[in-house]
Parts: sequence; C-alpha cells; structure tokens
Amino acid sequence: MTDAIKPDVETAEFFTEQEIRTFSFDIRQSALLHKFAEELAAIGGPQAPGAKSKASLAAIQLKFLFSKDQCELLGAYSDGLVCVLIFEGLQKFTDVSPPHELPVLTSLENRYDVLCLAARNQILLKLVDNSAFAYDMDNEGKLVRLVANFKGGGLNKIPAEPDIKELSSHSGLALGPHTEAPYWCAVNAKEGHSPSPSSLILSALWNPSLEPTSVIPLPPVLEKIGVTNCLALTTGNFQFTRSDSFVSGKGGDGRNVSILEFDDKVGFAARFNSYRFSVSENASSLVKTAYAALCQSVGEATPVEHTLTQESAMVINNVRALHCRDLIKDNRRVLVRIFGLSKFSSPIVITDDPLRLQG
Ligand SMILES: [Fe+2]
Repeated sequence: MTDAIKPDVETAEFFTEQEIRTFSFDIRQSALLHKFAEELAAIGGPQAPGAKSKASLAAIQLKFLFSKDQCELLGAYSDGLVCVLIFEGLQKFTDVSPPHELPVLTSLENRYDVLCLAARNQILLKLVDNSAFAYDMDNEGKLVRLVANFKGGGLNKIPAEPDIKELSSHSGLALGPHTEAPYWCAVNAKEGHSPSPSSLILSALWNPSLEPTSVIPLPPVLEKIGVTNCLALTTGNFQFTRSDSFVSGKGGDGRNVSILEFDDKVGFAARFNSYRFSVSENASSLVKTAYAALCQSVGEATPVEHTLTQESAMVINNVRALHCRDLIKDNRRVLVRIFGLSKFSSPIVITDDPLRLQG
C-alpha cells in the first residue's frame, strides 16, 4: 500500500467503527425482552390492533434495566447518527430445524415462532424510537415480511422454479446495494407519497448455512466522492423503476427525484438502488459524472457483514446505509423483516393501529 492511499483507508475504517455499533443484552434483559415478545405474539404479533402500544410499553419497561451506556447507544441510533445497530445476546424462540423445503408463505407467516421474532423486532424498533409500519402498496399491506427464496433464482432450484425471477426479497437472486423503496422522498411526505422507511430490522428464523447480510455505510462513500458530487446528487435528475414487492397494480416507477437531500433533523438522507436507479438522459454532464462517481464508490466499498440467527437482530438506518446480499445458497434461509418509522419522519397515515402509510 502506498502512503497516498493510506489516509483514505484509515478514514473509511474510522467511519465504519462509528457507524456500525453493537448493543449487547445481558441475560436478565434478554429474558424480559423474550417474555414481552411472547406476550405480543400471543395477541397476533405486530399486525394485531393493540400491538403498537404493547410494544411501546415493553420498550419503556426494558429501558429501566439498561445502563447509561446502553441508553446512550440507543439514543445515538434514534437521533440518526448510526448506520447499523446490531442487537446481540437474544434468546432463541425455537430449536426446530427447518424442513428440507420451505412451506408456503402464508403457513410460515402464521407460525408462533415467526410471530415471536416479528414481535421482538417491533419492540427492538421501539427501543430506538421507531414505529413498525407497512405501506398500503407494498408487501400486500402487511407489516411483517418474510425474506426467503419463495420465487426462485437461488443457487439451488425450488420445487416450482419459475422462468422469470422476481427481483425482490421473495426471490433467491443476489440483490445489489440499495435502500428500501419507495424512493419519492426520505423524511417528509411529498406530493402524496410517504417517505422511505427510516429503518428496517431483520432477524433470522433459520439461516442454516450462515449466509450473511451486508451493509454499506454511506458516510465514507460520500466523503470519497466529495462535496461537489454530493451537491449534484441533491438535484432531481434521477429516475427509478417499480419495485417487484409492490402490490399488483399499485406503486410505480418515478422520475425527477434526488438521491441525497439535506434535512435539518437528520443531516443528509439518501435514497438509492443500484439495480433500479438511473440518471436522466438530459441531465448535465456534471450530474452524470457525480452519478458515475457514486456508483463507482459504492461498487468499491467493502460491505460490513453480519450473519443473522435467532439470537441477533440488526436495525439498518435506511437513509444512511445501503444493504445487499449474495445469491441465496440454502433455500431454507428465512429472515423476518419489519420497517420502522423514526421520530423525525412525517408520513401520510392511512390507519394508526396497525400503522399503515400511503406509499
Ligand atoms: Fe432490501
């Protein structure tokens, strides 16, 4: 390594340390979280009316058990200053091994252990002042999304492998670096669209081959491309294609959006998807150069990997980090995902309990 590139590497390492943080539960704390998650699952999990207030109460009670350092860490994520918070020291809900082939989605969704993991995710989101929610036009309007190869495209074929693979978390395809859709705005509602999710939280029901989830913190990426390119990315010169997870007939592609925006409360907020975004043809050469620099910098970034199991969860700041994954190798892998809305976001609310937003 030459001296000329060394400072960049050191800067990137410094940023990454600050941006990826771990919150460790002790035995007493994780036992209480486990109990609260089971109680929430017993009423039907995050989708059930009343789950929202139950999760809030659970979070308040858990915080009595946390140290000052633990509370500060939750506060830092809640204030938008951390890219990823990994929760460790959690308890398993089941020892049952995955079947050779996954059951259909609806039967998986109704399993008690899945409801427990989803409920635990909802409580963990509340610890960082995020509310679990769903969009009306995504994931069939449901709060809980199971991330698994239901639709083919993984390394190994599923029983009814379709010819055309869906590019979404319901397939086995590799997914390039992205933030979660919708992409109209990141913090405040705009022209009838709610902002992107503030956070997504993931845990695993089964991950038998220990396949990791990867995250790319954006601060070092943006630092690398420089201030002029970042400013060019705040212009409305970008377009995106429709997500495959949207409800049939709802949601669409979009144009004239920015990738970065400045917000008084969170600082910068990003929306980007390496396989759905592009720069407008009539954009200036400065903007096109900035877009190419962003794509290159994202491509060169080394993702931080975490292997999810039932004993951990990761909450990703969806306006400050990209996430991605490789091709699914083991079709028994099932992750449980929920979106979170931060205290800074102003969405368009359709129903309050469960929280459903206009996408
Ligand atoms: Fe994703």
